[in-house]
Amino acid sequence: MGDRGPESQFNPEEKLSTLKSEQKKEVDFIPKVNDIPSVYLELWKKHGQYPVDNEVWDQVIDMAKKEENTEIGKRGIYGKILLDSLLDLSEKVRLESDNLKRYKLLTKKSPNEKIWFEVLSGLHKVDIESDYLIKKIGERHWENALDLGTGTGDIIRKIEPYCNHLTGVDQIPSLIQIAREQKVGKEKFKIGNVLKLPFRDNNFDLAVSAGLVWSLNRNQLEKYVSELTRVLKPSGSYFQSALLRPNEDLDIFELKSLANAKGILADLIVDKASGRADKKELISYKDLGEVFRNKGFTIKNFENQDGTAKVFEFVNHKR
Ligand SMILES: C[S@@+](CC[C@H](N)C(=O)[O-])C[C@H]1O[C@@H](n2cnc3c(N)ncnc32)[C@H](O)[C@@H]1O
Repeated sequence: MGDRGPESQFNPEEKLSTLKSEQKKEVDFIPKVNDIPSVYLELWKKHGQYPVDNEVWDQVIDMAKKEENTEIGKRGIYGKILLDSLLDLSEKVRLESDNLKRYKLLTKKSPNEKIWFEVLSGLHKVDIESDYLIKKIGERHWENALDLGTGTGDIIRKIEPYCNHLTGVDQIPSLIQIAREQKVGKEKFKIGNVLKLPFRDNNFDLAVSAGLVWSLNRNQLEKYVSELTRVLKPSGSYFQSALLRPNEDLDIFELKSLANAKGILADLIVDKASGRADKKELISYKDLGEVFRNKGFTIKNFENQDGTAKVFEFVNHKR
């Protein structure tokens, strides 16, 4: 992080392919639905339907301790994380009541030198779903792009080759700082709230978000879409990949998280830190469709060949 050389020696293509292979190495095991113990599925359902409660945390922590030295404890993308450090982080996140401070805990370095945010939520969503999002965006070239809830800039780095100008916005200053340090090219970053965007009207032909909307409630979603309508140019597109739970089917990310109790714990931590777990009314795909249609967007659905990733394109039809 932050160790790149002068701009002239910097090769974005090379950097992107290194980032990609680093991520892939960690994704070594995806269980089949039938391999998942039913207790995980029950917990998952509970965790997806209700705000995270102490009963769920305690049960998951207990299971993770029992599994630690068994085959199941070593499986999946979270298998390599030291349980003790994960438990330590979970306690801190759980005790902290301020959302921004909770998220800040995830910007500290984990024992493997990557920041917790990337270990827990980065690996969790990078690959199939975000690869597919990037692929769809990369089918066209864009003049001015906005990445909403950019976090450490994972998505914006990958769409950099397809855009003339790019800005990432996030409410957490420490994540923006990391995004700036990891910048691969012409991306710019701004601290801001996606519900009150610090940009002028009719500014962007492309907007994108990954992993953001599931922490909004219906009211916030309405504000978010109004802001998108305002800053997008007429006929501009908004692309979104998001894991909205509860889902009819387990998708690939859920399968990976459910490979062991550490995976469920990692997810509880991210949900708590992002504030998602505090929301009593979480939005659904249905809400998403309704709100965008009401604001005059048309919706295109894309699915990859094996049905493991979904991307929505919302096209702005304001005049
Ligand atoms: C799960 S992370 C995804 C980060 C990034 N898009 C990625 O895929 O790596 C969600 C991000 O949305 C940001 N976020 C949530 N609500 C926000 C708001 N109201 N305004 C700005 N950023 C927000 C969080 O700070 C967090 O960085």
